[in-house]
Amino acid sequence: MSGFFISIEGTDGSGKSTQIRLLEKYFKEKGFYVVCTREPGGNPISEKIREIIIDKENVGMTAVTEALLYAAARAQHVSNDILPVLNDGGIVISDRFLDSSLVYQGYARGLGIKTVKDINRYAVDGLEPDMTFFLRLKPQDGIKRKQAQQELDRMESEDEKFHAMVYSGYMQLVRRNKGRIHVIDALKSVEEIHSEITGAIERLFKEKGI
Ligand SMILES: Nc1ncnc2c1ncn2[C@@H]1O[C@H](COP(=O)(O)OP(=O)(O)OP(=O)(O)O)[C@@H](O)[C@H]1O
Ligand SMILES: [Mg+2]
Repeated sequence: MSGFFISIEGTDGSGKSTQIRLLEKYFKEKGFYVVCTREPGGNPISEKIREIIIDKENVGMTAVTEALLYAAARAQHVSNDILPVLNDGGIVISDRFLDSSLVYQGYARGLGIKTVKDINRYAVDGLEPDMTFFLRLKPQDGIKRKQAQQELDRMESEDEKFHAMVYSGYMQLVRRNKGRIHVIDALKSVEEIHSEITGAIERLFKEKGI
């Protein structure tokens, strides 16, 4: 098989990491070569860029700087971590991908979807996930989960209005990418969500003869 690229999207605390752990186990048990990674990050260079992005001291960062940093981290991530696995016929599960930039920097920061797509053109070099799962959780529910968990970083500490913009940005993106983005109600139980995700993957794999 040629590789298969899955991205998991959603607001903070929507359950992305939880579902990725389960999905990794699911694929491993089926004998697939699977690699889980995250954005921004995935390798030492991108992880360093991540530190700059989320550092709470960097309050003065402009939206353009932020978008360029995400794109830089993504460029390294794509060439270093994602493409080699796909070229080896593996499955990549990425915690966030380009959609996050379109929503956070394009929509919520107000740079515009087109500008952020342009900024990322060199970073992704035409790569798009085969499937994306958007874990839909109202921002207030997500922040509640996160607050119970740990101290919030620079992005997570944004105000309610920002998180509401992120949510509506995702909903817009979903409308424009109906074939690729699968919406999952993140208030369902961990197990229910997992079986919705694997059900959709199984249907597509069957269709594609994987
Ligand atoms: N379906 C669910 N129902 C209830 N709680 C959940 C569910 N999925 C995850 N959680 C809990 O919500 C919290 C956030 O989950 P998780 O870390 O998986 O989310 P995330 O989207 O990866 O968050 P982050 O934005 O920090 O990356 C955790 O405490 C987790 O145990
Ligand atoms: Mg997470």
